[in-house]
Amino acid sequence: MSTPTTLPPTECPAWAKLTAHAEGWRDTHLAGLFRDDAQRGAHFSAQAPGLLLDYSRQRVGALTLRLLAQLAAERGFEAWRRALFAGEPINITEGRAVRHSALRAGDAAPPEVRETLARMRALAAGLRGVRRIVHLGTGGSDLGARLLMDTLRERAAIEVRFAANIDPLDLARALEGADPAATLVLAVSKTFTTAETLANARAAKAWLAGRGLIFAVTANDAAARAFGATEVLPMWDWVGGRFSVWSAASFSALAALGPDVFDEFLAGAREMDRHFLEAPPEKNVPVLLALLGAWNVNFLGAATHCVLPYAHALRLLPAYLQQLEMESNGKRVDREGCALAYATAPVVWGAEGTVSQHSFHQLLHQGTQAVPADFIVAGVSAELDANAEAQARALAFGTDDPALPAYRRYPGNRPSNTLRLARIDARALGALLAAYEHKVFVQGVLWNVNSFDQWGVELGKQLASEILKQQRGT
Ligand code: F6P
Repeated sequence: MSTPTTLPPTECPAWAKLTAHAEGWRDTHLAGLFRDDAQRGAHFSAQAPGLLLDYSRQRVGALTLRLLAQLAAERGFEAWRRALFAGEPINITEGRAVRHSALRAGDAAPPEVRETLARMRALAAGLRGVRRIVHLGTGGSDLGARLLMDTLRERAAIEVRFAANIDPLDLARALEGADPAATLVLAVSKTFTTAETLANARAAKAWLAGRGLIFAVTANDAAARAFGATEVLPMWDWVGGRFSVWSAASFSALAALGPDVFDEFLAGAREMDRHFLEAPPEKNVPVLLALLGAWNVNFLGAATHCVLPYAHALRLLPAYLQQLEMESNGKRVDREGCALAYATAPVVWGAEGTVSQHSFHQLLHQGTQAVPADFIVAGVSAELDANAEAQARALAFGTDDPALPAYRRYPGNRPSNTLRLARIDARALGALLAAYEHKVFVQGVLWNVNSFDQWGVELGKQLASEILKQQRGT
């Protein structure tokens, strides 16, 4: 493997420099930075296909960025990126390559990917008479397709409902009002061993009672066929669940929205891949997102990260990014298995604006911890954009009017990014999700963790199964 042997992050010269540099930021306020540099907005922004990142309201200067880029270089970022795209087995604990970008590589995609896309098209075209798709899956086998559908729902020709929870109410609601004979049950599970999905799939099969259709999407073909799926679309071990939105895991969305919309989604991500590969660090949106995130966590002490889409269509983005970031980089040991002495992924949370303003923004503005935020703005309406801008300004600049009582003052100096999409469509969504995927990869490199396994979820599964057995006396 050509991944580099590099110094642990905290032993990189840039880490010590950043630690010292952060001291100088204690007394620097964003309001002052904007007063001193009228062009700050232009200086601290980067354009990628489909979106503009404005990070002028981050607590950074030119030197901060140089040092962060130095840290990435010292951590061997370029060699890691080459290894990622070369399909090397960088997921070391599972001995797997990480090739989700190959799913959206268009004509350059591997033959099995192109064949599967062609099969998805053909199967979708054959769904005449299907009025409801019931998508069963959880985690990465659910969140991506759910987000894609929710974002573009108005374009759907077939109703898609999702059930992820083992609570029977979830499936009951997904089946409510459906005619079994006009329903496709789609069981999506890479392993085809996930208890929630299998329970729902069995119950949905019983509900179909031989009518309708059952398809599966999985890497475990034999189990899906034994279950009774008439069509089985593949997943591959080189695609992690939380990176599988580009795969047949999104068959429900492809079938409902149409293959051309799905192609646009893939094209948007492909453009972001190219940008990630080619743009220099200081203009590279995923790299910047990663560096700024690490700066906030490791040097300014942020423990959480808030995602605020100012678009109802993107209301599920925070949930999607929670899995992407927290399952990938919520790690406490490095790639060599040593316990880490520095923080990794922050807690990712959030909700759609403007709704969130009337719920938790109080803490964002006046709470005791500064929470870095990503505002996602998409020109949906002047009101939405104005509110996003107002919130970002209030967080950054605050008010220091001494005439106001303390409880009415806003300290400001709370960092945020603004990600501007030209519009909300499949292409822009593809670009946005790919940007966050690469952010996660870069942060894994910075923190020296394997971003592509998720062993932390296993113990709970095992215990739940033992507790159930005890309860049932089996
Ligand atoms: O339990 C976590 C997890 O393994 C996720 O990583 C994955 O996306 C989800 O469960 C679903 O897994 P599967 O697709 O194998 O059902």
